[in-house]
Amino acid sequence: MHVSGTRVLCWLSIWGLAFGLVIYNLLSNQRDVIKESLTEGYAQNTTRTNIPTHKRVDQQERTKQSFVLKQVMEKVHKQQEKDSLELQHMDKVHRERLSMLERVCRHPALQNLTHIPVGSFTLSRIFVCKRRRVLFCQTPKVGNTQWKKVLLVANGVYNNTANIPEEIVHQHEKNGLPRLSNFSAGEISHMLASYFKFFIVRDPFDRIISAFKDKFVENPRHEVWYQQRIAPVIIQKFRRGKSLLGPLRFEEFVRYLGSEKRSVLDSMLGEHIIHWESYLNLCAPCSIHYDLIGHHETLRDDAPYILHMAGLSGVVSYPDIPQGITEYNRSKIAHYYASVNKKHILKLYQKYWADFALFGYKRPEFLLR
Ligand SMILES: *[C@@H]1O[C@H](CO)[C@@H](O)[C@H](O)[C@H]1NC(C)=O
Ligand SMILES: *[C@@H]1O[C@H](CO)[C@@H](O)[C@H](O)[C@H]1NC(C)=O
Ligand SMILES: *[C@@H]1O[C@H](CO)[C@@H](O)[C@H](O)[C@H]1NC(C)=O
Ligand SMILES: *[C@@H]1O[C@H](CO)[C@@H](O)[C@H](O)[C@H]1NC(C)=O
Ligand SMILES: *[C@@H]1O[C@H](CO)[C@@H](O)[C@H](O)[C@H]1NC(C)=O
Repeated sequence: MHVSGTRVLCWLSIWGLAFGLVIYNLLSNQRDVIKESLTEGYAQNTTRTNIPTHKRVDQQERTKQSFVLKQVMEKVHKQQEKDSLELQHMDKVHRERLSMLERVCRHPALQNLTHIPVGSFTLSRIFVCKRRRVLFCQTPKVGNTQWKKVLLVANGVYNNTANIPEEIVHQHEKNGLPRLSNFSAGEISHMLASYFKFFIVRDPFDRIISAFKDKFVENPRHEVWYQQRIAPVIIQKFRRGKSLLGPLRFEEFVRYLGSEKRSVLDSMLGEHIIHWESYLNLCAPCSIHYDLIGHHETLRDDAPYILHMAGLSGVVSYPDIPQGITEYNRSKIAHYYASVNKKHILKLYQKYWADFALFGYKRPEFLLR
């Protein structure tokens, strides 16, 4: 009896100790959870409730979840608010651009200069994304290859802009991005009236530097005719020195572009002139009512906005824009035009004044004074 009594006591104390440990653990666990809740700022009131422990943990889980959910929703709402503010800002910027364009187009004294007939030249500059009902007027030196890739993806031919081979982009007979000039008169007027229409511009003098570098200096696509056929024609007419050897100089290029004899030369040069032809002649922006005109200088904002307005956000995104390639760099412009006589810069400006005025680019006084 005595022995068994001691044994029972012993068992009881062991069980008691174990039970106590379990309770202690549970409580300290609880404390940790509550401490955590307090520091994280949720479930502040659960300490005062009388709910059994396991249910309390449950409720805390739920409170925690709903708190996290609330935070996520707040973030989403803030982003939506920000997006809609940005969208409002972009709407305003683009409305102003279009109204500026319209004002210049409507100006009675300028009508004869700005209203370019929509002929086969312009129609062949406009590319058709039929599936998404988008028309894109190509204006070289503003990331056109990238836009064509975007439209090829939008057309459903490719699944990603990164997967499109470079040579396919410019093969319009095969790549499913035909020119507007390939359609019948009826289809053309239907598309012009109902499709989303856009193009991109950049500062006209900056663009001329870019065309010169791309075609006559760097020529990354190895288009030999620029250096071998076009450059000699310009040099022949505009070089002052005796030697006709050596590469085309920027000053000679500018004199050709501003010259009265230019149209004769241009008719000999064919489609290659698109690289320096004015936006006015390329896209006829006073005759065709474009929905949107992007600026190369603000492409980072404009590209997603254009996709949004064209109903393409979620379908395709514009490829990454490398740092520093779109910004206007006044010292670079000044450096290039320093080699050109003011008189010839002024003649160049007079040739391109519509591109400055229509798209809101300031007359570059720092080059003309
Ligand atoms: C906590 O309790 C106070 C007072 O009972 C109450 O006003 C408050 O809304 C409660 N907070 C939460 C997060 O439930
Ligand atoms: C525009 O052209 C028309 C027809 O060629 C001519 O009658 C008119 O005087 C011109 N307007 C201006 C402002 O030059
Ligand atoms: C996208 O196209 C490439 C090649 O055309 C193919 O290998 C890839 O599986 C496609 N991806 C998707 C998600 O369809
Ligand atoms: C578009 O027209 C050109 C010339 O008129 C022709 O060579 C080409 O095959 C046509 N392309 C398509 C896709 O119809
Ligand atoms: C602007 O152009 C100048 C001269 O070409 C160059 O040295 C400078 O780094 C450029 N600035 C920027 C911000 O790209």
